[in-house]
Amino acid sequence: MKFNVLALGSAITAANAAVLGERAAYAVVGKPEGFASGTTGGGSAACQVPSGTAQLKTWLSDSTARCIVLDKEFNFKGTEGTATETGCRPASNKCPGNGGQDAINHASWCTNGNAGAGSTSIQVTYDKAGVSGLTVGSNKSIIGVGSKGVLKGKGLRIANGAKNVIIQNIHITDLNPQYIWGGDAITLDGSDLVWVDHVKVSLIGRQMFVAGNGASNRVTLSNNEFDGKTSWSATCDGRHYWSIYLTGSSDLVTMKNNYIHHTSGRSPKIGGNTLLHFVNNYFYDLSGHAFDNDQGGKVVAEGNVFQNVKTPLLANKGQFFGSPSSSANSACSANLGHVCQLNAFGSSGTLGGSDTGFLSNFNGKSVASASAANAANIQNGAGVGKI
Ligand SMILES: *[C@@H]1O[C@H](CO)[C@@H](O)[C@H](O)[C@H]1NC(C)=O
Repeated sequence: MKFNVLALGSAITAANAAVLGERAAYAVVGKPEGFASGTTGGGSAACQVPSGTAQLKTWLSDSTARCIVLDKEFNFKGTEGTATETGCRPASNKCPGNGGQDAINHASWCTNGNAGAGSTSIQVTYDKAGVSGLTVGSNKSIIGVGSKGVLKGKGLRIANGAKNVIIQNIHITDLNPQYIWGGDAITLDGSDLVWVDHVKVSLIGRQMFVAGNGASNRVTLSNNEFDGKTSWSATCDGRHYWSIYLTGSSDLVTMKNNYIHHTSGRSPKIGGNTLLHFVNNYFYDLSGHAFDNDQGGKVVAEGNVFQNVKTPLLANKGQFFGSPSSSANSACSANLGHVCQLNAFGSSGTLGGSDTGFLSNFNGKSVASASAANAANIQNGAGVGKI
C-alpha cells in the first residue's frame, strides 16, 4: 500500500495546531494605502481571543503590543448600567409618532441653544456604556473572524497620543441610536497612524467616525461600510444624519473604497485643518448632503460614485477639488502622482469644486492610487466578512 507521507505530515501539523488552540490563521490582511501607510498595529504579536468584555477592555488599553481577535459578539450593553435624566427633543425633531432622534444633554447641548428654539425637555434613558469609547492604546490590531466580530454597545477611542492602530473586519453597532450624543463608533483625538479597514458601522447615536479636535495626523479609512439606516432619524426619513466628522487640527485622511449609504448629512463634514483624499468611494441613497466642507477643510474627491445623493456638496468654506473634467484633472499629476479620476453621478445633484491651489499639500505624502468610478466593485468589497 502506498502512503503519501507529505500529505500525512501536513495533516498531523494542522491537527496539532487545532488541539493547541493556536491562532496562526488569524492575522491582519493586507496593508494600508494612502496617508496611514506604514501602520503595523500589533505587528508580530500573537493573535489572541479575549475571554470577555473585561479582558477585551484591558487588552485594548494596556501598553502591550497586541493582536486582539473578535470571534463573536462582545456586548457592552448593561456593563456600566443605565442613566435616566433630563434631555431634550430638539426643535428639528418634528417626526410623527415619536419617530425622530431625541438628545442627551451632553455638554449642555440641550440647554445652550444647539437644540433650537422650541426644543422641549424630556426624560431620556440610555445605556451608559455607549456614550464613551473603549480606550485603545498604541500598537494594537483589532481584527474580526469572518463576519462574527461584533462590538456592541460601545465604540473605540484612540486619543491622547495613541498611535499605530489597525481596526479590521469588525462590526460596531447599537450605541444608543435613539439619542443624539448616544455614542460614537470610532473616535480619534490626538493620534497618529490609524487604519480602519473592512469595518461596518450601524445604529450609532452620534458619529460613525470622528477625528477631532486634536491632531490625528495620518489616517486611512478603507473598504468600510457606513450604514445609516435607522428608526431614529434626526431628519425623520430613516437615515442617519451624523455620520463622519473630520475636524482635527492637523489631519491627513485617506478615504478609499468606502460604501456610505442611507445617510442624510455630514458624510463627511470636514474642517479644522484636514487634508482629505476621498477616492473611489460609493455614496448610495443620501437624502441630504454628502460633503460639508468648513473652513480649513481641503478635499480632493475623485473616482467616487454618487447615486441618489440629493446634495453632493452642501457648502464649501474651505478648499475643494471635485475632479470636474478630464482637462482640469491633469492638475493632480504633479502632486498626487496621477491624473485625478472623474466622479460618476446618477440621480444626484452636482458636486462642483475646482480649487487646485492646495494640491501641493499632497506633495511627498503617501497618496492612494485611483481607479475609474465603479459602484459595484466598491459595494461588493466594503464592510465586514469580505476578507
Ligand atoms: C509601540 O511600538 C514601538 C515600536 O516597537 C515602540 O517604540 C513604542 O514604544 C510602542 N509604544 C507603546 C506605547 O508601547
